[in-house]
Amino acid sequence: MASKPTITEVENAFFPAREIRDPNRFAGRKTYVEEAYYALLSEGTNIAVIGNRGIGKSSLARQLMNIAAGKNELLDKLSIATDKPLDFLPIYLACGKETSSHTELLEKLLTIKECLLDWSYDIPRALRSLEKYQPKFNVGIAALGGEKATESTFESTQPQHDVETVFTNVVAAIAEEKLAKNGILIVVDEFDQIKDKSGFASFLKSLATNVPQVKFCIVGVAHDMQELIKEHGSADRLFAGGIINLPPMASEELAMIIRDAERSINRVIEFDDNATEKLVKLSQGHPYMVHLIGKYAFRHAFKTGCKDISNDDIETTLKSIAESGTDPILENRYKKAVASSGQREVVLKCLAEVQAGNLEIHTADAYKKSIDQGVDNPSQFVGHLVTDDFGAEITKIRERYYRFSDSLFMAYVLARPPIVDQTVR
Ligand SMILES: Nc1ncnc2c1ncn2[C@@H]1O[C@H](COP(=O)(O)OP(=O)(O)OP(=O)(O)O)[C@@H](O)[C@H]1O
Ligand SMILES: [Mg+2]
Repeated sequence: MASKPTITEVENAFFPAREIRDPNRFAGRKTYVEEAYYALLSEGTNIAVIGNRGIGKSSLARQLMNIAAGKNELLDKLSIATDKPLDFLPIYLACGKETSSHTELLEKLLTIKECLLDWSYDIPRALRSLEKYQPKFNVGIAALGGEKATESTFESTQPQHDVETVFTNVVAAIAEEKLAKNGILIVVDEFDQIKDKSGFASFLKSLATNVPQVKFCIVGVAHDMQELIKEHGSADRLFAGGIINLPPMASEELAMIIRDAERSINRVIEFDDNATEKLVKLSQGHPYMVHLIGKYAFRHAFKTGCKDISNDDIETTLKSIAESGTDPILENRYKKAVASSGQREVVLKCLAEVQAGNLEIHTADAYKKSIDQGVDNPSQFVGHLVTDDFGAEITKIRERYYRFSDSLFMAYVLARPPIVDQTVR
């Protein structure tokens, strides 16, 4: 008889708020892991992981860092043929909203302890380069550097350098130490958050010539590379063979996430076949949705002593996710789009249903569905949903064709029970 899991184990069987670091919990994605592995092996190739919100970009990047550091468990698990383990020095930075430009990105990489700063302290030549930066982070270095900075020989007579030069010199100094045979891998997550991206590609180009041992992996929400990097031309060659466009996950892969979660609690609670199918369908390829709904379904089951999660249990879970605003961002966007109109809510849901089957929305299909459900003038509501007042959740692609700006929101619209009581509309 399997032992009863603890609340902590049940709470952590699914983890919507955390990317996957443990290769055992990373489901599917063989093609993309393989592409990423080859890009790691290819000298001079930088990597870009692109895709929609909640599709698994950061998780893939984390796996890539493991592989780069010589841990081949995931490659073995996916039966991907390997050479000898890689030996990169992996560095990770998530940009966050407040990064204004690529120079600020470089500054962060240089001055954050877990990024390059700690390494610089151990390498006198890197530290000297860092001290040459003016005007800003001399202060930072003194403050952060403490004893180590004063121990080193400070060459105040040296000319002062801009951040690009300092970065180049620092990584060159670290690379020369041959701490890692394959060089330095710098993962920049949430790259899309950098406000002004101009200049990054040309910096990367000069870095490739001066310090070829540095490989960047940039990760972000975008439909294509140009959109991510906001620069044309030169970026293409730098990322040739290294662009990983993550599509929605396949149904079998999403079901694997559910099976892995069940296994983590000795299968004491399980989703029945219908519930599995429903959860997979609602997720629309987004592993985030599987983790979000799965987590609350497990919590509910654990509290009520239920061992088999059914379709009805999923419905109950969806209600509680909506009512408690478990994902406040998605929930607020939903409320903004609906804005108390039952008719607009019907149209929104019809648009999601049409897109779910077709990738884009032909208005004729969505109008017909909406009219069948009692909406008088659906085009008027579609008109609302493209405007900022209602969150601009729908985008016009061409005459008569629309799509959700964010497919994760589309999945949320499909899953969320209606706000407005449709019987009294
Ligand atoms: N291959 C996978 N197997 C199982 N779970 C996954 C997989 N990929 C992602 N997940 C899970 O899906 C959720 C979203 O993943 P992740 O944070 O990597 O996505 P993202 O694309 O970086 O999202 P965002 O756009 O919000 O940054 C997380 O809970 C993560 O653990
Ligand atoms: Mg992410």
